[in-house]
Amino acid sequence: MFPSVRAGRTADERYIDNLMSRMSLDEKIGQLNLTVGGDVVSGTAEAAKIESLILDGKIGGFFNVKGVDAVSRFQHLAVEKGPNGIPLLVGADVVHGYSTVFPIPLALSCAWDSAAVAQMARISAIEATADGVNWNYSPMVDICRDARWGRVAESAGEDTYLGSVLAKAYVEGYQGDKMQSDSSMMACVKHFALYGAAEGGRDYNGVDMSRERMYNYYLPPFQATVEAGVGSLMTSFNLINGQHATACDWLINGVLRRDWKFDGFVVTDYGSIDELSRMGVAHENEAAAMALRAGTDMDMVTGRYVADLKDALKNGLVTEEMIDRACRRVLEAKQRLGLFDNPYKYCNTERAKHDMYTPEHRAVARDIAAKTFVLLKNDNNLLPLKKKGRIALIGPLADAGNNMAGCWSGYCDHNSHKSVLTAFREAVGDKAEIIYSPGANIYYNETTQGDCDWGRRISRVDDSSAHSEALLAASKADVVVVAMGESAEMSGESSSRADITIPDTQRDLLRKLAATGKPVVLLLFTGRPLILDWESENIPSILNVWFGGSEAADAIADVVFGDKMPSGKLTTTFPRSVGQLPLYYNYLPSSHPDYDPSRFNPYASNYIDVSNEPLYPFGYGLSYTTFAYSKPAISSDVLTADGALKVSVEVTNTGKYDGTEIVQLYINDPVARIARPVKELKAFRRVDIPAGKTAVVEFAVTADMLRYYDADLNYVLEPGEYNVMTGPNSQELQKLSFRLR
Ligand code: BGC
Repeated sequence: MFPSVRAGRTADERYIDNLMSRMSLDEKIGQLNLTVGGDVVSGTAEAAKIESLILDGKIGGFFNVKGVDAVSRFQHLAVEKGPNGIPLLVGADVVHGYSTVFPIPLALSCAWDSAAVAQMARISAIEATADGVNWNYSPMVDICRDARWGRVAESAGEDTYLGSVLAKAYVEGYQGDKMQSDSSMMACVKHFALYGAAEGGRDYNGVDMSRERMYNYYLPPFQATVEAGVGSLMTSFNLINGQHATACDWLINGVLRRDWKFDGFVVTDYGSIDELSRMGVAHENEAAAMALRAGTDMDMVTGRYVADLKDALKNGLVTEEMIDRACRRVLEAKQRLGLFDNPYKYCNTERAKHDMYTPEHRAVARDIAAKTFVLLKNDNNLLPLKKKGRIALIGPLADAGNNMAGCWSGYCDHNSHKSVLTAFREAVGDKAEIIYSPGANIYYNETTQGDCDWGRRISRVDDSSAHSEALLAASKADVVVVAMGESAEMSGESSSRADITIPDTQRDLLRKLAATGKPVVLLLFTGRPLILDWESENIPSILNVWFGGSEAADAIADVVFGDKMPSGKLTTTFPRSVGQLPLYYNYLPSSHPDYDPSRFNPYASNYIDVSNEPLYPFGYGLSYTTFAYSKPAISSDVLTADGALKVSVEVTNTGKYDGTEIVQLYINDPVARIARPVKELKAFRRVDIPAGKTAVVEFAVTADMLRYYDADLNYVLEPGEYNVMTGPNSQELQKLSFRLR
């Protein structure tokens, strides 16, 4: 099949031609098998399983093996004793940091700062590669419009443009300038595709979606990573219009490979090939063939490629060429990583001793964390707090250092992370007194709480006496800071919620604290938008701190006491009621749109019992200072297909503090071949503006910003009128118009 020398082939191609000419069919299929580690201490059953797969040439890589020693042992075995000595891919979910943990991806997106994302990804790569990892299951670029879905925490939120910009930054950070470097790892973008649109926000649920919606909103972030050179891609768990994403020929062979020219390899998500038969799209023994035919190269965990592909070949369900092609892609990935030149490049035990959780990495994580917090409300400038007097710190997350890192943080030491309580005490020293009280459980019900804090327990208290003690603490204090919301495991995979309020006992406590009349600051921990209807009315200050990573507590103290300014802005809409979901800013016009936001309007498109408006819109976030926007200006009212318009706006810092503002630009196409969203983000800038100063923020508007996929999936540009809007968030916008000629 692959002659050892073919005319016109590069040295790299010839290397793989040669290697494959020496490999048996079984070995080629073996390269398509990815196994999971777990506890791989020498001598355990897990270790023995991996060792025997290596010796039999039935494995292309493994994941979830922690520690360079174990990785190194397996790599040596593969290279020295495995057939043909082929090195292994070593995968991991390094989603927002490794040993040093950064804010969860949803929080990171709220900094609107691609340089920060790239920096976090670079540090993640330095640490993970020091521990033997060469392949990372990140970024997750699923667009999410439904806050019930727990994996919104792993996403960059609801916007396609911002999601695409950040997706690229992740890939560039992980893969570095060149993948051959020993501190670069191959990124694996996931989950292809539409996973974020799971029906009802219930994890693993199916998706039924028009191609127009996919192409315009859900697929572009994936394409951005392909353009950025991402090395691999993971399929998703869900059905797409009745087909399984892992066996979706038009999507993988078609959109991804033929249209986007993706030249990396495709891996399934965990156990997906078995799901094909469980989800009614394949007979058990045909699932592997179906996935391979659709262009899925590697099987995560099921072992079905190894078990079934040879028979599938005999039965004519797949061809030898398909197996060869998949094997070649996996080998090419190893080559891109430089593993054939130096299979032990990730097996340096010295690096593991020096590169982890360094003071430098932690300082960056602390800085980035502070940028991701979103100040939702701040009546009478209650924040920042002065370091003086008596401050009550109350709530189940006040002394829970082990929860600060958030979901998908399996490679750090949760118990070494500082709690907010410790950080506050260190921050105020002897200038103020911190009176601590846990106040409440996460949930009244112990079993429900157990489902949400497994792995990182938050000690149970007696709710009734804890509420009373908290009230006593509040009565002694000048100001009350309440650290509550979700525990770390309430978002992430398999963490859908139908009721997305602050859980019962905590909300009850918050009501009691508010009733004391003391000024209350809510430090909100969450991995998703929550319904904060009551809180937004009754709590004077709300600082959403998400899950800020290993350095979260210090970063929270930095912002609460005003050493740093909050500057984050929401990348997901915060609804008023779960009944509004899915809720997102870039919706299509509805029929009967003339509703009155303040009351129900019969025969308009609205609800009897709740307004259509979000509680906090996409792009929203306050600072300790204030910003005033001038009227925007436009350089011309005509744009040509190859030209650019300049839209500028003056932003003045009208408050007392130096601050950072995220200035946003949206576009709307009022009449098109298919209805276009009421507005779409097309550009943004983070600008530092000293107190009293004005920044002139300029945007170039080009025709590319106006293109979209029409009903025939042509990527079109239509002459005509357009609106361009600028402002501090998706609702407070000032509009100008221009014409595309
Ligand atoms: C998740 C993926 C993850 C994989 C490997 C799956 O359950 O959906 O996001 O990369 O496990 O850990």
